[in-house]
Amino acid sequence: MPSATPIQKFEITADEIDALVALFYERIRAHPMLGPIFARAIAPEDGPEWRAHEARIAAFWRNAIGIDRSYDGNPMQVHRANRDIHPGMFSPWLDLFHATASEVLSPEKAAGIGALAEKIGQSLRYGVTMRDDVRGAPPVLR
Ligand code: HEM
Repeated sequence: MPSATPIQKFEITADEIDALVALFYERIRAHPMLGPIFARAIAPEDGPEWRAHEARIAAFWRNAIGIDRSYDGNPMQVHRANRDIHPGMFSPWLDLFHATASEVLSPEKAAGIGALAEKIGQSLRYGVTMRDDVRGAPPVLR
């Protein structure tokens, strides 16, 4: 049963999460490998669809960190369902996330949210790898 008063995992404010998310997705839009995936799934240009995505992602992070419980999605289902997403994309995604976090946040906060991103990223990568698994065949690691 979810706790009524979530215990926050480390010190970070909702405003800091908003700033990180805004800069991260600005860079995602310009990224040669990741940009086109998001352009198809969200919108080809910056605009209202991107603000809605960023609001959802900020809620996801507030939930993961324990600030509030407003996020109600299922990231595993979303990433497995998007057939454009492949296991080899998680490293570049995480590299960009760490670089952006260390610009926007103090080293401690960047390390905290970065460690969480690695943990969740590993689990999503596993889910996406197994999606393509055929019994007896090696997983596709691209
Ligand atoms: C391979 C790297 C990744 C790619 C290419 C990717 C791509 C995407 C795309 C395109 C969407 C929009 C939804 C859709 O496709 O229909 C999405 C949603 C989302 N992504 Fe990722 N993602 C990646 C890694 C991650 C990681 C590591 C995290 C968390 C640490 C994450 C968290 C989320 C969340 C929370 C959503 C919103 C899900 C919802 O609608 O509730 N993603 N992602």
